[in-house]
Amino acid sequence: MQPSEKRRILITSALPYINGIKHLGNLAGSMLPADVYARFQRLRGHDVLYICATDEHGTPAELAAQAAGISVQAYCDEQHQVQRGAGEGFTLSYDWFGRSSSPENHRLTQHFAHVLEEKGLIEERVSKQVYSIDDGRFLPDRYVEGTCPHCEYEKARGDQCDNCGRLLDPVDLKNPYSAVSGSTNIEIRDTAHLFLKQSEMQDDIRAWVEASTEWPQLAKSIALKWLDEGLRDRAITRDLKWGVPVTAPDGSPRPGFENKVFYVWFDAPIEYIAATEEWAKATQGDWQSWWRKDQGAEDVEYVQFMGKDNVAFHTVSFPVTIFGSGEPWKSVDKLKAFNWVTWYGGKFSTSNKRGVFMDQALELLPADYWRWYLMANAPEGSDAAFTWEGFQAAINSDLANVLGNFVNRITKYTVSKFDGTLPATGTPGEDEAWMAEELKSSLTKISEHYEQMEFRKAAAETRALWAAGNEYLTRAEPWVKYKNDVDAAAVGVRTGLNLVVLFAIVAQPLIPTTAKAILDTLGIPEENRKWPSADEASALLDALPHGMAITAPPVLFQKIEDAMIEEWTERFGGEN
Ligand code: MF3
Ligand code: ZN
Repeated sequence: MQPSEKRRILITSALPYINGIKHLGNLAGSMLPADVYARFQRLRGHDVLYICATDEHGTPAELAAQAAGISVQAYCDEQHQVQRGAGEGFTLSYDWFGRSSSPENHRLTQHFAHVLEEKGLIEERVSKQVYSIDDGRFLPDRYVEGTCPHCEYEKARGDQCDNCGRLLDPVDLKNPYSAVSGSTNIEIRDTAHLFLKQSEMQDDIRAWVEASTEWPQLAKSIALKWLDEGLRDRAITRDLKWGVPVTAPDGSPRPGFENKVFYVWFDAPIEYIAATEEWAKATQGDWQSWWRKDQGAEDVEYVQFMGKDNVAFHTVSFPVTIFGSGEPWKSVDKLKAFNWVTWYGGKFSTSNKRGVFMDQALELLPADYWRWYLMANAPEGSDAAFTWEGFQAAINSDLANVLGNFVNRITKYTVSKFDGTLPATGTPGEDEAWMAEELKSSLTKISEHYEQMEFRKAAAETRALWAAGNEYLTRAEPWVKYKNDVDAAAVGVRTGLNLVVLFAIVAQPLIPTTAKAILDTLGIPEENRKWPSADEASALLDALPHGMAITAPPVLFQKIEDAMIEEWTERFGGEN
């Protein structure tokens, strides 16, 4: 690759909330596809920086800490490690997994607030808030519960009703009570908050969204829908202790805001930048060259991954922050949004034993099994249901039969009939020419699908390539030819062995652990594991050194038996 062809690609996946380990649907809709994309682009030789972090502020974290009987800081320290561990278990290749509670994020969040205020985009306004007399405090968002004004559900949270799904303002709840103490001794009081004047940025944001030609459809349509409804100014502070403190420009507490912090959705996306600063500190990297257009970030491609519920915050609210600052921050170029993974069409739920969470999944099977199924069934065009039956079929057919058997069969055969060395004799013919064409077209398509961030299609085409390899062996029949023409058999075996390596190389983004196991067993050096070029398809089929030693890898995939499915259905729920 010429240096000029080397792209700089910044990748972020939506920051998982700190409270509680994520389920497979969360994984499939942000972190996993971001990882697959990052791995693909690294294999292509590009300069990739993949950043994620835990989203640690907000009422859910405070309430969960309280329920656990520990300080919020201790709770977040612990849960950050849990989520970091789950990420490692799923081989998510973050360059940095940060924390939105970091000093870097505090500093940067306060910086943005000061600059936005200077530009006239933030102002103090007095608004009505729910105050608990017995608790001696205001009750923001989930700190207050009561009856939903729309559907009369009696346990609606201050920010949203779980029954009808509507977003609420805490002061609209009927019969409000404190989620902290249960007290109904509540009154509505006036208090000052900072408001971000999003309405003033409406035209700038619309112009930017409309000019963003590289956004996939789902992201763009959600952004335009919000713009059509009109951007509303919103409060970006809350009456809480845990969070980024509201300061005056000199860093001292802002008068009247001593007991307030910034709203979690104001500081969380800023952590994308701050986490890059955390990364830079730890690695002597240059974070500004990724984020400041005056420091080299002009040529960065910035790609974001998230579930559809996050799109408005990334296409409207966060852009108001960074564009409104008037400073040369890098903004998103490609935004890939996902629909939901459902559990048999319904919601994942810990309390109702419906669905598998990241830590549990790894107790059942290695990461690659889940990675494969979730990406082959990525919720791209619409929601996608996880089913045990679909999972079992995908693993047993795609991974165990189509890929696993191919690798197993050809390597074992080499060991038993060709003394465990890659045979050198025989000349390629029609079957090899056919295979070269298949390889060329598959490689072209797989690369295109990844570039377009079409993960379902990328997985389907990867499987199609493996299937073509099986078809090739059926045509070439080395085991039949061996009986009276060893040289002819040798061509088939040699081509088959080269395919084993190619199949592992192209599988690296999706099933990195298995791919590595195959490539390690065959002793393929790191520099020969790069993404192959479709133009070299024929040469790729005879690229391995003649005479090299071949060992058969251990069985790659264990089949999923019906008995396992029955047990897991019992434990995690299934149909009904
Ligand atoms: N924590 C949010 C969620 O899980 C996502 C935050 S993305 C960020 O829905 F960029 F704002 F951090
Ligand atoms: Zn309701």
